[in-house]
Amino acid sequence: MTTNATENRYTGLINNYISRMPIDPNGRIISLGEGNTPLIECHNIELLKKHDVRLLLKYEGLNPTGSFKDRGMTMAVTKAVQDGSRAIICASTGNTSASAAAYASRAGIAAFVLIPEGKIAMGKLAQAMIQGAVVIQVKGNFDDGMRLVKEVATEAPVDIVNSINPYRLQGQKTAAFEIVDELGEAPDFHCLPVGNAGNITAHWIGYSEYANECTQSCSLCSGNCQFLQGVKSAKRPKMIGYQAAGSAPFMRGDMVDAPETIATAIRIGHPQSWDNAWKVNKESGGWFDECSDDEILAAQRLLAGSEGVFCEPASATSVAGALRDIESGKIPAGSTVVCTLTGHGLKDPDTAIKQATSKLITIDAKLADVKDAILSNMG
Ligand code: F0G
Repeated sequence: MTTNATENRYTGLINNYISRMPIDPNGRIISLGEGNTPLIECHNIELLKKHDVRLLLKYEGLNPTGSFKDRGMTMAVTKAVQDGSRAIICASTGNTSASAAAYASRAGIAAFVLIPEGKIAMGKLAQAMIQGAVVIQVKGNFDDGMRLVKEVATEAPVDIVNSINPYRLQGQKTAAFEIVDELGEAPDFHCLPVGNAGNITAHWIGYSEYANECTQSCSLCSGNCQFLQGVKSAKRPKMIGYQAAGSAPFMRGDMVDAPETIATAIRIGHPQSWDNAWKVNKESGGWFDECSDDEILAAQRLLAGSEGVFCEPASATSVAGALRDIESGKIPAGSTVVCTLTGHGLKDPDTAIKQATSKLITIDAKLADVKDAILSNMG
């Protein structure tokens, strides 16, 4: 293969942050060009103007398989392949299975995915199936699948690519790097939807990595260093984790045995990163909170209808919670807030169509009818 010497293509987050990745840079890298997702500033939500808060959306739905999982999967699958693995396995509420299937396909290895029967969004199932994964439906929930994956991995030659695989978090920490690289410093608050709590942990690793470097290499400033080239922000955000009310073990302070929520991606009662998430909570000075399914869906509609950003229900949990905390003043005026939108809205078209308020108008194929439809709906 020849490449043009003047080529300057983005080739994924491992190459982009290679010096920060615990991976052999000379080995084979499995990438689909993940990362480098847009940070979209909200312009139209009235509440933000009223409370003088700047809200930015890290739109992770624009990763190759439509969720943040690709950041972790490029690392987990690259490591597995470099170690000679022939098969990966995961339990999933949908997005991890879609991502695992894609990266395994790219790598030419097998993927086995365990999903809760009847409880994953249609787009995610379609992805896992067409990308050639062996899809195993479990008559149980995600937590049952996770338990089985851990057990079977001790007996079969498969590498686990759930977020208990530390390489997953190393990939996902790059979202924090991108935010600091773009804003010039960390935001005041970073809000995420929480399921297993791998992603909130990974973001904290990323922010901390930049911040530690800064304090180590810079004695000139105590926070926002703009003097030395290559030195990043010493500031770290308060990390806020929002859960769906029916699946909120961090709010209950204990595991939840029968989690329920319309946001199926975070329908998890036994988080795998329990201790890490509490550490992040304590170190960052942030908090956990919960949102009802109605609040989650309202936030999904608000983002789609007033900012043109379509995310899946679980992702909207971060915005539902943030808006409530902005309104109450818990997130104070003058703050810069980043909300991670973890997955694309197209993952779950059924839930979107069921709650959409737009009219679906059917007409005869006549000019008069289309004109009438326009004029009677000008608003
Ligand atoms: N948002 C989406 C869209 C997700 O798919 C997930 C997790 C989360 C948030 C929560 O992230 O677990 O790191 O706290 N989905 C996993 C899966 C469980 O199987 O796709 P977390």
